[in-house]
Amino acid sequence: MSGPLLEAEGLVKRFPSGTLAVDGVDLTVNAGETVGLVGESGSGKSTTARLVLRLLRPDAGTVRFAGHDLLRLPERRMRQLRARIQFVPQSPRTSLNPRLRAGESVAFNLRAHGLPVSRVPELLERVGLGAEHAARYPAQLSGGQAQRVAIARALATEPDLVVCDEPVSALDRSVQARVLNLLARLQQETGVAYLFVSHDLAVVEHLCDRALVMREGRVVERGPTRELWRSPRHPYTRSLLAAVRPLTGELP
Ligand SMILES: Nc1ncnc2c1ncn2[C@@H]1O[C@H](COP(=O)(O)OP(=O)(O)OP(=O)(O)O)[C@@H](O)[C@H]1O
Ligand SMILES: [Mg+2]
Repeated sequence: MSGPLLEAEGLVKRFPSGTLAVDGVDLTVNAGETVGLVGESGSGKSTTARLVLRLLRPDAGTVRFAGHDLLRLPERRMRQLRARIQFVPQSPRTSLNPRLRAGESVAFNLRAHGLPVSRVPELLERVGLGAEHAARYPAQLSGGQAQRVAIARALATEPDLVVCDEPVSALDRSVQARVLNLLARLQQETGVAYLFVSHDLAVVEHLCDRALVMREGRVVERGPTRELWRSPRHPYTRSLLAAVRPLTGELP
């Protein structure tokens, strides 16, 4: 395959309420890299994530994934492709089905893609969970443990790309560091790419190769994370950076 793994061009989304949530966003993610999407609340990050996952239809723009025109793909082909582009949503406790035990959540995704459910214990072990966790319902897990289950569920299909929408925002600072380490380690092991949505610039700095800064539905600045953080050009990026809360704990 040549070219980027994910390539979105000119994405526009206006909600029926009239809100122009995404106003001409271009973004690319290459195989194996982590791209951060940052910006304040309401800047259009989650909407952009949902557009590239085809959970929402844009009013304009294209999304190419692994050479496929994602928005034109028939539903049946899209279902197959979903194995390769997975999602870790923001709130682990509510994103997991409350009626499924942790192991069943992971098994559900395996089964959906015709993969053997015998891999559940290995997948849970990979995210640092044991047999005792497999039998628990989301309400019986800590926030960090629930997010590990969501990550195991996403990785079950051996995706090329995982879109993570604020995957650690609901967690304590110390637990955040552990989950970020886990994501970084899993990337080293599997070569998975991440599109990592976050309003937290300290988190993005530690995890992302490149970052895009969104404001009012547009990308106002983009570049390698280190460069962007060292010499932000846009006043908005500067104001975001001025409000950074440092991370604690062992980081990748
Ligand atoms: N389903 C919807 N219907 C109508 N408006 C929506 C919908 N989803 C999002 N919006 C609006 O679109 C804009 C962008 O929202 P979005 O959720 O993409 O922002 P965000 O950057 O993810 O914010 P946050 O950091 O708070 O998660 C906001 O003004 C929001 O109110
Ligand atoms: Mg959001």
